[in-house]
Amino acid sequence: MRIDIISVLPELMESPFKASILKRAMQKELVEVYFHHLRDWGFGKHRQIDDEPYGGGAGMVMMVEPIDHCIATLKAEREYDEVIYLTPDGQTLNQKIANGLSLRNNLIFLCGHYKGIDQRVRDLHITKEISIGDYVLTGGELAACVLADAVIRLIPGVLNDEQSALTDSFQDDLLSPPIYTRPEEYKGLTVPQVLLSGNAQVIEDWRYNEALKITQEKRPDLLSK
Ligand code: ADE
Repeated sequence: MRIDIISVLPELMESPFKASILKRAMQKELVEVYFHHLRDWGFGKHRQIDDEPYGGGAGMVMMVEPIDHCIATLKAEREYDEVIYLTPDGQTLNQKIANGLSLRNNLIFLCGHYKGIDQRVRDLHITKEISIGDYVLTGGELAACVLADAVIRLIPGVLNDEQSALTDSFQDDLLSPPIYTRPEEYKGLTVPQVLLSGNAQVIEDWRYNEALKITQEKRPDLLSK
């Protein structure tokens, strides 16, 4: 997979890709991530990329030309499966969306700033708009990192034990059951006996029932789907 991220603040996104699983995914060449500084396509001495909104109002609007030129340059080099705009008015990210995107080859993520982007960028290029929740961030960069993380970890070979992605919370619309590791007893709290039984079927049944119970308690909306 290849992800091209377009932003006015690419430096904000460096560290998530330099550690742990995302770093390893890149080292294993399972994913390539490229950052594109929108100012490289900006106008004039100041590399201008935003301007005042037509019709007035507060805030600046990201201009169509720099973004169009940047995306067109990328599209001239390869075909993209999706051009995704990170925006609070997009579709709320969930596991199903992440699963679908993990099967794609080439993705562009566009990070918004200020009041947002000129509508014509959406009309020309954007195939998907994704929000990471009903709150407003200062820009799309952190949302792009969240989306990249959720997608990259699902690419086969990225996680050592592929089972561990399949048994994630949300993968089957259930939250995960409780998990334990050593010691068997801590401050009077003990590991459920069933997990020490060695009986794989009994353990699986227990985990499923616990997952159901926890989902019912914390997220009954998932069960009513
Ligand atoms: N940009 C600003 N807020 C955002 C959000 N909640 N999700 C995605 N992109 C954003």
